[in-house]
Parts: sequence; structure tokens; C-alpha cells
Amino acid sequence: MSNPLRLQTFVDLVHEDEQPKRRRSKNSALPADNNRPEQIILLDFGSQYTQVIARRIRECQVFSQILRYDTPALKLAALRPSGIILSGGPASVYAKNAPQPDPGIWKLGVPVLGICYGMQAMAHQLGGKVEKSDKREYGHAEIEQAGDSPLFAKMDAKQKVWMSHGDKVTKLPTGFGSVAHTSNSPYAAICEPARKLYGLQFHPEVHHTPNGKAIISNFVHGVCGCGRGWTMRSFIERAIEDIRNTVGSERVILGLSGGVDSSVAAALIHKAIGDQLTCVFVNNGLLRKGEAEGVQKVFGQNLHMKLHYEDATSIFMKKLKGVTDPERKRKIIGRTFVEVFQSATKHAGSAKFLAQGTTYPDVIESVSIAGNPSAMIKSHHNVGGLPKNMKFELLEPLRSLFKDEVRKVGEELGLPREIVWRQPFPGPGLAVRILGEVSQKRVSILQEADWIVIDEMKKADLYYKVWQTFAVLLPVKTVGVMGDERTYDNVVAIRAVESVDGMTADWVRLPYDLLARLSTRIINEVRGVNRVCLDISSKPPSTIEWE
Ligand code: XMP
Repeated sequence: MSNPLRLQTFVDLVHEDEQPKRRRSKNSALPADNNRPEQIILLDFGSQYTQVIARRIRECQVFSQILRYDTPALKLAALRPSGIILSGGPASVYAKNAPQPDPGIWKLGVPVLGICYGMQAMAHQLGGKVEKSDKREYGHAEIEQAGDSPLFAKMDAKQKVWMSHGDKVTKLPTGFGSVAHTSNSPYAAICEPARKLYGLQFHPEVHHTPNGKAIISNFVHGVCGCGRGWTMRSFIERAIEDIRNTVGSERVILGLSGGVDSSVAAALIHKAIGDQLTCVFVNNGLLRKGEAEGVQKVFGQNLHMKLHYEDATSIFMKKLKGVTDPERKRKIIGRTFVEVFQSATKHAGSAKFLAQGTTYPDVIESVSIAGNPSAMIKSHHNVGGLPKNMKFELLEPLRSLFKDEVRKVGEELGLPREIVWRQPFPGPGLAVRILGEVSQKRVSILQEADWIVIDEMKKADLYYKVWQTFAVLLPVKTVGVMGDERTYDNVVAIRAVESVDGMTADWVRLPYDLLARLSTRIINEVRGVNRVCLDISSKPPSTIEWE
């Protein structure tokens, strides 16, 4: 069994129950000094769309940070937000133990926008009434404005929105007025202008609300008065200053995997402190063809970074000999990696800091509320930690960024497209794509087949458009005929999937002529393969990787 989503840091190779706790404060993406951008704080009531709201705010070039729904008002005040958004959530406000914000937030003097459950929590806490609706509103709806609201500035009186709620506000708190209604509810949007409190019963963050982005922009720019200071260029400037302040004259070690996150972290830290950074790159013998050479070329030769290369192929192959169980494979690879990495860091010289490419989705503390599917998904997330006996301080310069922002930073720093836009590659490498025993010979067969898949996908201009495309080596042999000879050789499966975050996926309908080229080339060019098949399963119920 494999996890729905995994991190790209080296520690994700360690089994979950073996990971010690991270040595850093939880839940703040930002450094604790004044080097801060303007921000909107998003209180999470367990909605599956919380991260989407955070990203929409950032698309408005305003920094956003997700905190738990019950974060004390004093702590919020200390963060000096320009505005607060209360997310949706699966609970009912009148239920016992329903999640509630700290009532102190209404007195902070900053604008608050409640979305769906967030609006109900606002109405409930301020003296209004929320009740179960006779008719659950789910899907497309039309709202009609009744009065002026800065959130709907320059919009038509009627507009399409996306609803998903079972409860509804039936009485407004004193001071509030309705600014939009639907045929089912008089309170589709509410506001109390004096304190700048706003509520939307619908979801502006989802694509099905066509004006959603403009509504969020009206809140963050129009109501909260935020500028457009959150750009990746400004992020880089701040991050460089932070890294220099934190590191001083000490040294930093970074485990470079060649993946997007660790590569961008390396480039950023190198720009800040140059030779004080040493990257350690471990070749576990399970990488794609040419990858070890590629990483050495880009980081060592082109970017002139100090790079410690450790070829541990034979150690991994020895430990994997005779192992066929997928979970055992993963565990062995994880443990071996930590051993090799630890000894490699010693060779790389002493350092005070260990840098990692941790990103924002890895550090958001998920709110566990019954009915919240994202909480369930996150519980599988093996957020990394340091091996117990490694005495480093963590340096995680990308911990406030979403993946698309990490890519933008990589582009700004001049990393090549092959790195910035590369497809996700699992930590245990080709081992989870070689079913049955992993051997040097089987790795070579898969590397060749995989290289052809990547090559043809690039030639068809599809490689950067799909989430993942790769080859899998099956543990069966089939009969074939080549020339006049009968063959008895391996089968390769092709897997191409479309996905947004790896949690769900659909198989890609690749053009027939591309499939034909893949099949012909793999069978003709890869010695030991006489059959190619196509994986046409989606996730769920299948997973993306085969093990
Ligand atoms: P599955 O196979 O669970 O994969 O559907 C979902 C996504 O995660 C990647 N994956 C991994 N990434 N370490 C990683 O860093 C791992 O152990 C690992 N296993 C799977 C997979 O390639 C897909 O993108």
C-alpha cells in the first residue's frame, strides 16, 4: 500500500512511525521578525477548500496564512493581519462542540469575511440564528444583490455562485443587513459595514463561482486595503535576507534529491550564502537514466555549488536483494538512505543547519473535524523529521510557499525547465515501479524503457502537460517472436496520469500513434522486453505508483 501524497524531502523515505518530531515551532509559515509581508489570516474550520482560499488570496498578490479556527485573538493580533477569513467546514454551528472562533476576533478592528460555515459561525456568535435548512442547497445557484456591498463592486445584480450547505442563517445579528439573496435563502451575503464584517453563504474560492476571484480580490484589496506586495521576486529578496540573518557565518547541508523543492531550496540558499552551503546528493541506484549526471551538471558545474556526490548504488542493491514485499522495500530504502545520508554529511564537513525543501502544504496543521475528508487524507501524510541523532537546526526557506510558487521562485532563480517543471518522482525511486525483486539488471531495463517514455512524451509536447508518465516493469514474462526466434521476456506497462495534487488521478488518453511509437521503440530498443501494455486505471481505486 502506498500513501496518497508524499513529500519530496529526503526524510519521507523513513517510515512514519520512525520519524521523530520536528524541532521547530508549528504553524507559522513566516519568520518571527519584522521582515513580513502584509497578510490575510485564514482560520480553518475544516473545509476541503481552505487551501484553495489561501491560494486565491495569493493570486491577488497578498500573502495568506492558514491557522486553526480557535487561534486566540491575541495571537492573531500579534501577527497584525490586514484581514481575517473564516473558512467553510463540515460542522453545524449549533451542534455540541461545534468549532468556534475566539470571540475576541470581532474586537480586533480588522475586516472579517466568513465563508459558508464561517458566515454561520459569525452570525451565531454575534447573536443571530442558524437553523437546519429544509432544503440542502448544493451546486449552482443564482444570487441577486439587494443593496451595495464592496465585495460585489462593479458586478451585475444577478450572478452565478456555488453553494454547498445544509444549515442557513435565519435571523441576522443586530447591525447586520442582507446584501444578496437566492430563491432559497434571504441571506446569501450579509454585512455589518461599521465593523467591516462580511458573510457569504456561497463559496467564492471555487471555479464554479465565476466572479469568485474578483469577490476575494474586492475583500483583500477593496475592504482590507492590501497592496500587491506578495510577488516571488519580493519573496526571494526577503528570503535571502532571512537566510543570511539566520545562518550568519555557519555552514548549511542540504539533501538534494533533484526534485523541484530541494532544487529550488538549494538555489535560493546558494544565492544567499554561496559556499557556506554544501549539497549532498545520494545516488541510490534507483534514479532515472542520466539523472545523477544531470544533477551534478546543473548544480555542480553550471551553478557552481559545493556538491558532495555519494554513489551508494551497490549498498542499496545489496540490501534489496531477495526483497519483493512493497512495504519492506520502502522501509529498507528509507533506512538505508538515512544511514548513507548521515555518513555523507560527515564527509561533507560539520554544519549547524540542515536545509530542506519543505513547502506550505507540508506544514499546515490539519483541523480534524468529523466529515472533513482533507483531515483524513492528511493523517497519511508523513511529514518529515530529522533522524534522532542528527544534531542540526532546520532551515526551511520554502515553508511558506505553495508548489506553484516554488516553481515561480525556481524560474526567477534561473533553474532549467527540466528541473522546475519536472514530473513528481517518488522517493524510493524506480524500486516502486519494479514489481518483484529489484536488481541492477531490472533497474537498467526499466531505466531504458522509462527514458523512451519521457523522450516520446517530450517530442509529442505532452511531457510538461501531464502530471506523471512513466514505465513499470512487471514481474511476469511472456512469449514473443523476434525474427525467426521465440523470445520469453519481460512486460513493461505504461502509466500516464492527470492529477492536480496526486491525491486523485485519471489515466490520460494518449494518442494512439504516440502509444504505437512507445510500444515499437521499447520493444525494439530495450533488450529483455517483448511486450508493452497500458495502465487504464484511475485513482482511486488504484494508486498512481504500482507499489
Ligand atoms: P500514489 O502511488 O500513492 O502516489 O498514488 C501519489 C503521488 O506520490 C508520489 N509518491 C511518492 N513521493 N515519496 C515521494 O516523495 C514516496 O515514497 C512516494 N510514493 C509515491 C507518486 O509518484 C505520486 O505522484
